[in-house]
Amino acid sequence: MKLFLSLLPASKLLLRSQLPVIYQRVQSLSAMAPGAQFFRQLFDRESCTYTYLLADNDTKEGVLIDPVIEHADRDANLLQDLGLKLKYVLNTHVHADHITGTGKLKKLVPGCKSILSKASTGKADILVEDGDKIKFGNQELVVAHTPGHTAGCVCYIDYQTNSVYTGDTLLIRGCGRTDFQGGSAANLYESVWSKILSLPEHTTVYPAHDYKGQTCSTVGEEKKLNPRLTKEKEQFIEIMDNLNLSYPKKIKESVPANLECGLFNLPEHLVFDK
Ligand code: FE2
Repeated sequence: MKLFLSLLPASKLLLRSQLPVIYQRVQSLSAMAPGAQFFRQLFDRESCTYTYLLADNDTKEGVLIDPVIEHADRDANLLQDLGLKLKYVLNTHVHADHITGTGKLKKLVPGCKSILSKASTGKADILVEDGDKIKFGNQELVVAHTPGHTAGCVCYIDYQTNSVYTGDTLLIRGCGRTDFQGGSAANLYESVWSKILSLPEHTTVYPAHDYKGQTCSTVGEEKKLNPRLTKEKEQFIEIMDNLNLSYPKKIKESVPANLECGLFNLPEHLVFDK
């Protein structure tokens, strides 16, 4: 690889900085290669939310993780453009900062089913618990119950691609706040160390948000570099108890709507025909 890079003109050497991103998802380059998984990371600028589209290249069945209501049309159009069949719409938790696109996607893509954790106390077509498996084509996500940011948080682990979709439980060099919706700093610490940072170090961490422009991390990186989670538990709890953050702007409209997977309790400007 070093020899190859040294033969490139200087302008092309810029590619070197992109190599880790390229390697972490080689299957994306082979777009629809048989047997591989299709992967796309989508973004909402306002809430800095990442939505993930995963699909099985053989059967074309796909899932969306943590869609945002304002982008439901974008997501449905992308599925159609790529010839993918949306089987499930998954949420990692009842979000407080944006309304999920799940309800609107159910209208736009008839037949897809919503998924939320049983512990969230919300309503969905399928309520999952720790260890449950979500299958689409030859792909599989395993549910890991990770309470802490909220009481009902789950992560979705993909052992085939060595990836974990962490929601707000583990962020890149951070973690979700723990001061409302049944949050608990002690529980979050236990969840992260027992369910996420116990995965192989090369596992890619895909969070629900990033506010600094980063796209993903790895278990190995976060074990060494996460400024909160590398602390002892007592110190972590003290940090989390003293964040003194103001509440998210949209919490009052987001939580009631998200407990219904974005089908009901919507603010006037986001109501769509169900
Ligand atoms: Fe959240």
